[in-house]
Amino acid sequence: MLRLGINIDHVATLREARYRGRGHGEPDPVEAARLCEAAGCHGITAHLREDRRHIQDRDVKRLREVVTTRLNLEMANVPEIIAIALSLKPDIVCLVPERREEVTTEGGLNVAGHLEAITETRRRMNDAGIETSLFIAPDLTQVEAAVQTGTQFVELHTGQFAEHFLDPSARDEELERLAAAARAAHQAGLRVNAGHGLNYQNLPFLRRVPHLVELNIGHSIISRAVLTGLTEAVKEMLLLMEEYQGG
Ligand code: PXP
Repeated sequence: MLRLGINIDHVATLREARYRGRGHGEPDPVEAARLCEAAGCHGITAHLREDRRHIQDRDVKRLREVVTTRLNLEMANVPEIIAIALSLKPDIVCLVPERREEVTTEGGLNVAGHLEAITETRRRMNDAGIETSLFIAPDLTQVEAAVQTGTQFVELHTGQFAEHFLDPSARDEELERLAAAARAAHQAGLRVNAGHGLNYQNLPFLRRVPHLVELNIGHSIISRAVLTGLTEAVKEMLLLMEEYQGG
């Protein structure tokens, strides 16, 4: 069965828009994680960025206490965040690029260009009992480099597929690249995840990509939740306003 990891960063983005620097505020990404798990997802993903744009240190600490499925920490391969990950002990970390020089033209991590540093982090995480994943473009050079690092997982970047979704020939080309990368990674013994830009329209097309274990999806689910939850939110506020006696 294909597993669903939900990326809750966008919940924190919404909170930070109003409450940046305040140490509290709504919506709470940890509460969101609880609801996602109760709804049946298989994992929670959060990206603790160096610039702390959305998820904060306190969020990942509380997520580690609360998440009962699997906690996937997305992170740049930098000393500060490596130290946090080693003490937090998520179930898995996914190394992602945050700086321009770490990114391939298609947006994945340039594993081939940073083989030694990534292998070292892979080893330190595994020694601490944490699995690793590398977020890479569906590019055979990057798959081969990922194999050399000894990582357990790769996450194939579906951004180009999502971007070209409305153009059938470009879409099919991207699906073919994803399928080829998934086959190569699987043959080499890696487990294969995928994510970025997946939504309710493009998801069914991923049937053409073999060997997928887990999809990491954030934006489309959180966006859908804003609209599907709006009716209830308005009704609750109207109910509170009914108690007003001053008019
Ligand atoms: N996978 C990785 C590695 C990501 O960095 C992200 C967030 O950009 C996602 C998956 C989820 O992408 P989206 O929010 O577009 O679903």
